[in-house]
Amino acid sequence: MTIRANMLVDKHFTVSAVDPRVYGSFVEHLGRAVYGGIYDPGHPTADASGFRQDALEAIRALRVPIVRYPGGNFVSGYNWEDGVGPKSERPRSLELAWWTTETNEVGTNEFADWAKLAGTEVMMAVNLGTRGIDAARQLVEYCNHPSGSRWSDLRIAHGYREPHRFKTWCLGNEMDGPWQIGAKTAVEYGRLANETAKAMRWVDPSIELVACGSSSRSMPTFADWEATVLDLTYDQVDYLSLHAYYNNNEGDTANFLARSLDLDQFIQSVAAICDYVQAKKRSKKKIMLSLDEWNVWNSIGSSRADERWQIAPPEFEDVYTHEDALAVGCFLITILKNADRVKMACIAQLINTIAPIMTETGGPLWLQSTYYPLLHASNYGRGTVLLSNVDSPKYDSKDYTDVPYLESVCVFDEATEQLTIFAVNRHLEEAMALDVDVRSFGTLRLIEHLVLENDNLKAVNTKETPNRVVPRSGGQTTVDQGQVTALLSRASWNVIRLQVTK
Ligand code: AHR
Repeated sequence: MTIRANMLVDKHFTVSAVDPRVYGSFVEHLGRAVYGGIYDPGHPTADASGFRQDALEAIRALRVPIVRYPGGNFVSGYNWEDGVGPKSERPRSLELAWWTTETNEVGTNEFADWAKLAGTEVMMAVNLGTRGIDAARQLVEYCNHPSGSRWSDLRIAHGYREPHRFKTWCLGNEMDGPWQIGAKTAVEYGRLANETAKAMRWVDPSIELVACGSSSRSMPTFADWEATVLDLTYDQVDYLSLHAYYNNNEGDTANFLARSLDLDQFIQSVAAICDYVQAKKRSKKKIMLSLDEWNVWNSIGSSRADERWQIAPPEFEDVYTHEDALAVGCFLITILKNADRVKMACIAQLINTIAPIMTETGGPLWLQSTYYPLLHASNYGRGTVLLSNVDSPKYDSKDYTDVPYLESVCVFDEATEQLTIFAVNRHLEEAMALDVDVRSFGTLRLIEHLVLENDNLKAVNTKETPNRVVPRSGGQTTVDQGQVTALLSRASWNVIRLQVTK
């Protein structure tokens, strides 16, 4: 049996322009993300600075516009001064977020160098756990001030004449979480974030600041935390952060694939809280959202290193399945559907630690199933998100009712005149016949229909078998007189690319 769904889009009815930074990612000093991931001086492809060229190539293909650094929980105990200057003089530190030894071989300047090679911006985070205003304002001065002051001249002495000009800064990380070094109440954090933001902006008025929202929607203080923090920081910050991780540890795939409904509600709730505080303050300013950690995380809470103080031990090296890739696809579509509010989003993380890209230290690199929806969305999901009218059959799962089998969004790129339909068929048994009314675009021609499908929902890519879950071109789509007709295989991710011809 085949189920049927319809979609209608009109080029005049839009949600918002896509901020390319929604295709951001995250590199934390955690596990082998930095050491063995982006940096592996003994690797055959490493350049003179120790950066793996095979990793850079896979990252460049993703066109990642912004990468959050250096944490994560790591940042809450980080002394940035330990990671600059001659490498031989850098201390080894006991790292208390993940109980490892941090060699400080890679620090702010090396990451800035790497980001240039990767063609990405840095989203820098400051330590508001163990430190505060002084360390943060000095780091801004070190990174962004041209010259003629203590910290900017120190950067120059370290070999970086030009300032890094990092634009986006996170005011700490998950400060509501009891696991955080220096966790705080909303009032403690809000006051500190506000005062730190002021000082950072006085050093460099051009920066943008992200305040910490709750570390997840399930935190007991969720919503009150957001309202209090924003009440105390409203005029000083531009974004509020959201973090969202999901897993299928219950082994209920229909319920798992519906988790993007939770993400959608989470985004809408945080937007509503921002608007409540805006109304209360009678402010003209709208706070935007930074979903700066999101992903499937099946090993969450599981794997702290047994033996403490190792250097870069493997941590959270989740092996992603075909169904995980479908979930990532649903999350990407949800982010796009909220493009009017979500201006930055970072899949957590980029390499080795809960990541789409895997490497063996000193050895090969391979791409996980989740790499592909990211690749497609980042490359073809630029332009403007269109409002879509969707009519899809629905199902109920353990935690959700009325889950549409079709999860989809359309993006129109005015520059190339290309229209892209991203669609997940959540049905685990049946194919879906999808009709999309695109009449308002005039005449269109099919460029290609990319499909990620698999007989086995649990199929994975590994070092030995890196091509078990890979997309193919040649999905079944026809275009006729403003009507796109596609067949979406069961449990599949689809990218239907169309060219406006007149
Ligand atoms: O991304 C891994 C960790 O998850 C981050 O360090 C932390 O912010 C979150 O809890």
